[in-house]
Amino acid sequence: MPQRGEHIVVVGGTRGLGLIIARAGAELGARVTITGRDAATAEAAAKSLGPDAVGRGCELTNWESIRDLYVDMPDIDHLILAALDRDGNTIADFRPQDSAQTSLMKNVGYATAVHHAIPHFTARASVVLFSGMSMWRPVPGSTTISMANAGVIGLMRSLAVEIAPVRVNAITPGVVAGTAAVDDVDEDRRRMFEALRQRTPGKRLPVPADIVAATFALTDNPGINGENLTIDAGLRLV
Ligand SMILES: NC(=O)c1ccc[n+]([C@@H]2O[C@H](COP(=O)([O-])OP(=O)(O)OC[C@H]3O[C@@H](n4cnc5c(N)ncnc54)[C@H](OP(=O)(O)O)[C@@H]3O)[C@@H](O)[C@H]2O)c1
Repeated sequence: MPQRGEHIVVVGGTRGLGLIIARAGAELGARVTITGRDAATAEAAAKSLGPDAVGRGCELTNWESIRDLYVDMPDIDHLILAALDRDGNTIADFRPQDSAQTSLMKNVGYATAVHHAIPHFTARASVVLFSGMSMWRPVPGSTTISMANAGVIGLMRSLAVEIAPVRVNAITPGVVAGTAAVDDVDEDRRRMFEALRQRTPGKRLPVPADIVAATFALTDNPGINGENLTIDAGLRLV
């Protein structure tokens, strides 16, 4: 768990898993900064976390925007990169520009966000990058996301060597029940996710609290470095 007063920055923290992680950190007394593409949206989301939470704009395909994120920012204990601009794409019907946008933000954007954070890391700092199970288990329309998520794992391993002693790890969620990406979908997708739930050994998909606990396990434990932690309730086994 984050210590009281630690500073956690969640890039992609205006909603979804990023916001839930930020809320859990704020409730434990951490200082939290969250980002989204639009500063006003990020500030409004930060207000929902408490008076000390800060919201900032950061567009991960705009290098100046990423650089400016860290201006006048307090030192960072934990940098969590959870942002995603979803692109549903198939190779048969490929839209390269949409694919490029998502790959740019999730790969080059994540790398640039870490690059500019380097001077701000404290001695105990850690980084957590969000990947996703589509890297190993593609689903219809996941062509771009499968590529980008695999790139995140390569980036994580490279960073763990390059920016040591800052520790760098990844979370690879499976299908997380209770997130908009899983709950707010059409009937075909809903059926697909239900079939995946039925396939898990415990007939249970992970929920956001499982992802929060896994994230804090990575930020807390000084022995975990260069690790990709899969949180899919065992779906990959069956
Ligand atoms: N939900 C799942 O079941 C699931 C499964 C596997 C992996 N994951 C991974 O977990 C992470 C969180 O997923 P989620 O479903 O919780 O996400 P989400 O609800 O879609 O939230 C995405 C976040 O990314 C920000 N964002 C989007 N495009 C951006 C850009 N170009 N630059 C900067 N920020 C941008 C959004 O902020 P604004 O809209 O305010 O700009 C928002 O805060 C993602 O990396 C995803 O790949 C999730």
